[in-house]
Amino acid sequence: MHPALLVAEILLDILDWLSDLPSSESRWTYAQLARCCRAWREYALDLLWMHLHGMDSVICVLRSHEDVVSVVDSGATIYWPCQIARISTRANGARCTATYCSVVFPHLESVLLFSQGCMAPPALATSTLLKHITLNMGFPSRMGSVSDLIERSDAAARFLHHARAQCPSIRSLTVWGRISPQLNAAIASYTQLRTISIHGTPFKIETFAAIATFPFLETLDLVAYLQEHEVRSWQGLSFSGEASFPALRNLTIRTFGPTVEPLLARIPVGVLTKLRLDMEVCMAGPSYMQDIFQLLAQKTSESLRELTVDDRTSMDDLPSSGIARWYNLELLSPLARLRQLRCFTLHHPDLGDADLEELARWWPTLEHLDLGTYTPDMVMPQWKAQFTPAAHPIAVRSFPRLLSATLPVAPP
Ligand SMILES: *[C@@H]1O[C@H](CO)[C@@H](O)[C@H](O)[C@H]1NC(C)=O
Repeated sequence: MHPALLVAEILLDILDWLSDLPSSESRWTYAQLARCCRAWREYALDLLWMHLHGMDSVICVLRSHEDVVSVVDSGATIYWPCQIARISTRANGARCTATYCSVVFPHLESVLLFSQGCMAPPALATSTLLKHITLNMGFPSRMGSVSDLIERSDAAARFLHHARAQCPSIRSLTVWGRISPQLNAAIASYTQLRTISIHGTPFKIETFAAIATFPFLETLDLVAYLQEHEVRSWQGLSFSGEASFPALRNLTIRTFGPTVEPLLARIPVGVLTKLRLDMEVCMAGPSYMQDIFQLLAQKTSESLRELTVDDRTSMDDLPSSGIARWYNLELLSPLARLRQLRCFTLHHPDLGDADLEELARWWPTLEHLDLGTYTPDMVMPQWKAQFTPAAHPIAVRSFPRLLSATLPVAPP
């Protein structure tokens, strides 16, 4: 055998490609690889366990658990695909898992419940090493009727409640799809979390207010379409004096402008280091962002190192009369106070060559500047400034610490 095939990274890379095969074929191949070579066995089995198809193999393991403890002894992720049987309704199955799960999966670190897999028995979560839980109930019509999804979401909530009592190490929670009231409440009770990612609806303002008080929460990735009145009611929900997001360092949020402002207004000064603002379409243009940038500068002038602004508004949609305004130097000017900024990403701003020198005065320590790339089919409005081929040398000259620059420059 070629010695390269004994290097874990190389082997894993090759085995990973096999997961692109049709699912039964990839599982068959992993099973064969596990049988034919002792050096490949653990890796192939890990991947096999990550691509489970239904509960049968788990039940089989639970019934004869003595033989297989070593098989799942390596921090495997258990992946429940959508074809799973709804075994949580079978009381016997659930009890059997309750007895043996901690014996069979003592090193389980991560659980992903997908679609009908959300109906998996809560007893699966017994490992004291469990750190990550991912729940994907799906969105209506494509992945089931609303009532199916609510049922899954409630089952996922029971799973979370059980896990919270059994698994003291849970640090990270990812939730996708339909969120029932029960699941909203379960999320709100996970006060120990370091990382939360929620791409689901309906996400309640009460849950948001609860998350804001989590004392250790460092990373928040949220797609939230809260209404203005909901955000206002948040002010009423939270106790005065209690800090919001006291430990938040990394925030990714996809939303409308009116949700961002009250959120930023409440974060503590000097904690946030990384921010990605994914702004929904606003036909009136981005003028409202100036207040957001102002707040950002107030709160993070000494801490923010990475800022990405992704505005989904298309420049073509903006009114072409005099009120049109895009991300120009004036709109961005509050960001001049971000003295620690290392990375800045904003595609196709209304900036030209000379503005680069000004940006360099704002951000003397900037290392990565990404203003988008030139795309021939993109129609640039007449009023917008453009970069010329001279922009690259200007950037190199102006930013003393620059490591990379991406600029939308048309080829000469
Ligand atoms: C910040 O959060 C994003 C989105 O959740 C994640 O992809 C990234 O790895 C996080 N970065 C750090 C430094 O934690």
